Amino acid sequence: MDTNLEEIKFVLKKYGQEQLLNGYEKLDERKKKILLEQISSIDFELINQLYDTTKKTQESHAEEVTPIEYLDKYKLGEKYKYYENIGRNAIKEGKLAAVTMAGGQGTRLGYNGPKGTYDIGLDSHKSLFELLCDTLKEEGKKYGVTIPWFIMTSRENNEDTLNFFEKHKYFGYQKNKNIFFFEQGELPMIDTEGKILIGEDGLVKLAADGHGGIYESLVKTGMTEQMKHLGVEWVFIGGVDNCLVKMVDPVLMGIAIDKKVTVACKSVVKANPHEKVGVFCKRNGKPNVIEYSEITDEMAEAKGDDGELLYGESHILCNLFSVEAIERMGREPLPYHVAYKKAKYIDKDGNLVVPTSPNAYKFEAFLFDAFGEVDDMAVLRVKREEEFAPVKNSDEKGVDCPRTARELYKKFYHLD
Ligand code: UTP
Repeated sequence: MDTNLEEIKFVLKKYGQEQLLNGYEKLDERKKKILLEQISSIDFELINQLYDTTKKTQESHAEEVTPIEYLDKYKLGEKYKYYENIGRNAIKEGKLAAVTMAGGQGTRLGYNGPKGTYDIGLDSHKSLFELLCDTLKEEGKKYGVTIPWFIMTSRENNEDTLNFFEKHKYFGYQKNKNIFFFEQGELPMIDTEGKILIGEDGLVKLAADGHGGIYESLVKTGMTEQMKHLGVEWVFIGGVDNCLVKMVDPVLMGIAIDKKVTVACKSVVKANPHEKVGVFCKRNGKPNVIEYSEITDEMAEAKGDDGELLYGESHILCNLFSVEAIERMGREPLPYHVAYKKAKYIDKDGNLVVPTSPNAYKFEAFLFDAFGEVDDMAVLRVKREEEFAPVKNSDEKGVDCPRTARELYKKFYHLD
């Protein structure tokens, strides 16, 4: 008898997770090995803690939330050129890289495939990946450099993503020279009793650990080392689903360098005080993002002396970090948030269960939770119509969907 199996059984009994081996005997040798490896790598103490968090109602700690200062890109006056110059020189020296987060499941869009491969319906039928790549290449040309591009995938979509890039010859980029792929981390999904689920493939049901997993993944997969090797000092991190994302912004970079901050984020002003977006703020004096659900109506509507909303700067996942900040953030685990989701699984009798309503907990870290780790951060307000065209929902929803993104894209590039 395999001692490893005996040890694993012991651990599973200790944590009440014996169901993980229910289907073990029916698996082929390869899968048996994978399952045992998966189980060995689970941090069961963490799973217990995470399960406990699902039972607690969100406690609001006595936190002091205050507005954060920001700069408006189009109200910088003479400083615009000053910052732009600093940023431009740094870009010319090859100090900027771009990271695209493409590990999400894209459940709201309901598209079967990595979101980056989605065609938003332009005449060119270019995918989101290609649209992003076009702007990167275009910008790179302006500065006489190739901006290194790092793409974060998940285990679920890694192969499809790589095949897609291979098929499209990396859109002119060169794999492992100036385009790199890395996988984000995962955590097991658990049911309402705290039991870890087994997925359709007979293995542990794992789910991506949220975009907050990016710092740890960049460090663990050797990407930050790679960046340093390339001479990169600044990294723009953005989502795959904003087809107007401007990853190369000398003004943003110039501000970060000049103000000696390690993180500089772009914001767009809320469409209306009650728009359902997270906004930049300070929590107990530290930079952070507050979700719309945490804000009172009074706060949402409050205005400063200048007539602007005090909490009006939406976080649009367009953030610039120094490599050093990423390394620092990658060392400290971020808190996990709980999401209640539908998850297919194999029950104790070996049957596949396809739920019609949420049945399992998924745990995700949010990228902006790391902002509190920095002492200061710059926020730059940019124009929504120039930089924000998200593809979140299917067209039926009518907002932040392929149709709206396509219209914004066409308008910006004068394609009609
Ligand atoms: P969202 O939070 O909008 O999630 O991701 P999503 O997975 O794309 O879509 P839904 O919620 O399932 O409908 C914002 C960005 O963060 C990336 C996404 O790929 C997107 O670019 N992301 C999100 C990751 O890379 N990994 C994650 O675990 C979550």
